Amino acid sequence: MIGLPQASGFAGRVDALFDTLLALSGVVVLGVFAVMIWFCVKYRHGSAADRHGESHRHLGIELAWTLIPMAMFIGLFAWSVKLWVVLRTPPADATPVYVIAKQWMWKVQHVGGQREINTLHVPLGQPVRLVMTSQDVIHSFYVPAFRVKQDVLPDRYTELWFTATQAGTFDLFCAEFCGTDHSRMGGSVVVQAPADFAQWLQAHAGTGLAAQGAVLFRRFGCSGCHDPHSGVHAPDLDGLYGSTVPLDDGSQVRADERYLHDSIMLPQLQVAAGYAPVMPSYQGRIDESDVLALVAYLKSRSTHPEIVDEYR
Ligand code: CUA
Repeated sequence: MIGLPQASGFAGRVDALFDTLLALSGVVVLGVFAVMIWFCVKYRHGSAADRHGESHRHLGIELAWTLIPMAMFIGLFAWSVKLWVVLRTPPADATPVYVIAKQWMWKVQHVGGQREINTLHVPLGQPVRLVMTSQDVIHSFYVPAFRVKQDVLPDRYTELWFTATQAGTFDLFCAEFCGTDHSRMGGSVVVQAPADFAQWLQAHAGTGLAAQGAVLFRRFGCSGCHDPHSGVHAPDLDGLYGSTVPLDDGSQVRADERYLHDSIMLPQLQVAAGYAPVMPSYQGRIDESDVLALVAYLKSRSTHPEIVDEYR
């Protein structure tokens, strides 16, 4: 893509695929137009061209125009699937950053409690994983310079990851029509050298996300049932994140961010085996940023030391 900086680890690979697709399509278009013009001239009205038509088939030519384009486009398919897998698989050490879209702004929450609106600060050269949800309609998080775009949906977490490879400020857009001010729903991604980023984090530190969640855990009454000392038969949440939870329908689910979110907002969806479906839904009662804080708090009570460190 001409004129656009390649500011993430996979920008070059996305461009290589896009440019190849463009070049191949260009060759096909040129070929079709060349033959079309040639025929227009050859078979123009009154020309002496032979108009009897072909009397026998040319198997070689038919095979060539079928198999060569097929091989090219299956090749492109395999190439894009390979790239897609890379784009969809964040490395385990990627720093999580939480993004909430709403009409018409981007709200960002860092693990240390730093909050920003329509701006996202990230460190240079370190993988960042965005966990995103929407408070109303479908939005789409789009940073052209990074070649990443991901829909952001209500009642659901979607993910996107990248490693910024250029310091600077890059445009952020909403790429899904979401109402009156959709075209103005944007901002910027600020990529800073790790030392500058650490300084920025320090200057904007607030109460950590997990600590906020711990307060909410009491305020919303979660602790009334889920505290190990409570008299209610409710699942103990220590070590829940990252574990495998048996459900009452006999299936199993991995307790990831999505599972924790759904357990709070749609508790009847997946009921843990051995428990009555008595948990009330918090949908409409708490907003998504509070859910994220609760999820961060539950992650801090994980038994996986690397996750707990992240939220300290
Ligand atoms: Cu949000 Cu368009």
